[in-house]
Amino acid sequence: MSNSNPSGDSGDTAWQEYLTGGSRGAHGQSAGHQADPSASASTSSGEPEGPSAPRRVIGTPSPATSRTMLPQAGHHGPQRPPRELPPGPEDPIKAKKAERIVATLFILAFLAGLGFIASYEIFGAGSLTKVLRSNLALGGTLSLSLLALAAGATIWVRNVMPTVELTEQRHLLASDPKDKEEFKETWEEGTDASQFVKRPILRRTLIAATIPLGVAPIILLRDTGPLPGKSLEHTVWRNGLRLLVYGTNRPITPAEFASPGSIISVVPEGFQNDDDALAKAATVIIKFRPGQMVFTTENHPVPNKVVENWTVENIVAYSKICTHVGCPAALYEQTTHHILCPCHQSTFDAAQGARVLFGPATRPLPQLPIGVDSQGFLIATGDFPVPVGPSYWERS
Ligand code: FES
Repeated sequence: MSNSNPSGDSGDTAWQEYLTGGSRGAHGQSAGHQADPSASASTSSGEPEGPSAPRRVIGTPSPATSRTMLPQAGHHGPQRPPRELPPGPEDPIKAKKAERIVATLFILAFLAGLGFIASYEIFGAGSLTKVLRSNLALGGTLSLSLLALAAGATIWVRNVMPTVELTEQRHLLASDPKDKEEFKETWEEGTDASQFVKRPILRRTLIAATIPLGVAPIILLRDTGPLPGKSLEHTVWRNGLRLLVYGTNRPITPAEFASPGSIISVVPEGFQNDDDALAKAATVIIKFRPGQMVFTTENHPVPNKVVENWTVENIVAYSKICTHVGCPAALYEQTTHHILCPCHQSTFDAAQGARVLFGPATRPLPQLPIGVDSQGFLIATGDFPVPVGPSYWERS
């Protein structure tokens, strides 16, 4: 019996015989001959032997046979796409150094991770001091571990991997005309099968049934409260209302507020406990040195200027409600005269009509007209000339 496997592997020969019907078939001839297309001998019946028909394969081929089933390089099967990434970094010496650093960082991360587990066991809870120590140890080790891991990964990517820029081509997002046509057909079939068109009574009652559900959300909008009307345009400040110091609720005279660079929050007398009113009426007053403010002699707001007639002895009053989204803006920097809103860092120049210097706010803080009453206390001489606080749909 000749070996059917060109490699001469006797194990493969046995496997081929198994696959092709046994080591010796009824024909009394080696199955290996039948399976070998290269064999040119005649069969025992005298018929010329042609290429054997594929036979059923049962079971998993042996590894050697499996290899022969793989496409031969250069003949059949798809070619490997050309390599896109360079095989290594441009500077191998630098990469080697980076490799050591990365490995050190990963070891550090490993040790810190172990430290985290150990800390959990070592520092128990049970008292404030223990919890404090435990939190410090757990937080410190976990932070160190994550930091070292992140630093290692970053250095790895930047110094060990090759630098290459790849562009991924995107396919067209629109469906192709064939898909569109198929969808249209499916839709029309479905519409036809649903009887939506053929049975008007069903169609009309269905539409009628859904109309109230569509309108319901609009009706529910009424539950959001009464319409604001003009209330957003005004505050409770009016001529003659005293400015009370927020917290103590005491009126204040210009002489009591004589220190340049000072800022205090004030509220309108009579509304000091009314949160709804204070939400819009909260105000700050700031004391300046003579000559520090940029004045206008007009009697209405002028961009980048302070209305002089609305100040008293270099004291100016501005709304405390940030014109961005309404946080209290009352952080004050004496030397620069900047009012800072802590929420998103909008910055206003108090010396120049509270114009916006920085941040997302788009309008200056409105200036409140102030004066003094017959007893010498600071009072408002009117409401803010423009709405305070954030913009809204009628106040861009
Ligand atoms: S609320 Fe003041 S900056 Fe956003």
